[in-house]
Amino acid sequence: MAGAPLGRIAQHFSGFFDLLSAGGGQTAVGLSIGASSIKLIELKKNGKGWKLLHFGIAQISEDVIVDREIVNAVAVVDTIKTLVAQIKLGNKSVCTSLSGTSLIIKKMTLDVPNMRELQSQVFWEAEQYLPFDVSEVVMDYQVLSRAKDNKTDVLLVAVKKGVLDSYMSCIEDSGLKPKIVDVDFFALQNLYEANYPANPNEAVALVDIGATALKIVVVHAGVPIFTKDTAIGGRNVTAEIQKHLNLSYVDAETLKVGGQGGPVPQEVSDLLHLGAENFAMEIKRALDFYAASSSSAPVSYILLAGGSAKIPELSRLVEESIGLPTQLINPFNSISYDPSIFSQDYLAAIGPMAAIPIGLALRAGAK
Ligand SMILES: Nc1ncnc2c1ncn2[C@@H]1O[C@H](COP(=O)(O)OP(=O)(O)OP(=O)(O)O)[C@@H](O)[C@H]1O
Ligand SMILES: [Mg+2]
Repeated sequence: MAGAPLGRIAQHFSGFFDLLSAGGGQTAVGLSIGASSIKLIELKKNGKGWKLLHFGIAQISEDVIVDREIVNAVAVVDTIKTLVAQIKLGNKSVCTSLSGTSLIIKKMTLDVPNMRELQSQVFWEAEQYLPFDVSEVVMDYQVLSRAKDNKTDVLLVAVKKGVLDSYMSCIEDSGLKPKIVDVDFFALQNLYEANYPANPNEAVALVDIGATALKIVVVHAGVPIFTKDTAIGGRNVTAEIQKHLNLSYVDAETLKVGGQGGPVPQEVSDLLHLGAENFAMEIKRALDFYAASSSSAPVSYILLAGGSAKIPELSRLVEESIGLPTQLINPFNSISYDPSIFSQDYLAAIGPMAAIPIGLALRAGAK
């Protein structure tokens, strides 16, 4: 039974599993299809590192992607096409990612005397565990470690075939080639590892807060040891502003992100503060659970990404409620750029939203 999904993995799911070369080349492209916007980034090889070539972001309306599933494929295709034209994308081979409840990530420990049997054991175990019929999913795995007693730690990734297909069709219909499909958690990890010095003694929590999801991955010694995806995000805050100020959703969103110029009204600041407190609480809940259930290294610090991480007080509130140093992630620690094209202010403004797309582009470029 595992044979059928594996064919698909080789085609699409190799960002994580490194089965397929992305074709090298001079540039690397990341495409992130989020609930509120689509981001497209192209990096150019610069010595041993990477340089920012193009970044494009285009908003999509609330009803285009619902519960992380594409509801309006035409709108997604049109938006990607617009972005491709806008940034004059050279390389059509992209790395993209999935997230949400159609995606299952599970660490498994198996007793595998003979590594040749690993795959069938992983898939057999997965069949017992997965909440979906195995014929409906695409699965793959990565070996994390293997002990002398044959205990083998494996990270399983499974995604609903229908959801994967809908993302692939949109990307292909917009004229791009989906060479690699990754997972948002691993894109964050990839971005972190490229931009921050490795310290094998500490674990770090990477948090992306977008429009509809708060994703946490704890990384230790190059391994994503804990992941959690909760369906809360900036859209909840916008909905509160809409309700309290009796505005349209679009006006509430504009007011929230300071798009009207001038100071944000007190009521909006208060609701942003409440939203930030909720996000901090959710991060604390997840990290408390991680601390209670894991024997791995304790988390040393927290890095925040995603558009909602731009709520001004968020880092401070997270730091206060969890008691760990917290900062916005900086994707441009190691990615160079031409300052005459990209100003510091622009990079600071896009940084949180660009984290996952850059992590994806780096994955594309790594092969
Ligand atoms: N300055 C700001 N202050 C507060 N919130 C902001 C600001 N800028 C953007 N946001 C919020 O960030 C969210 C968009 O972030 P992002 O682009 O990371 O999400 P997404 O990838 O579209 O969504 P998801 O990751 O949930 O699929 C929106 O809810 C938006 O209102
Ligand atoms: Mg996102």
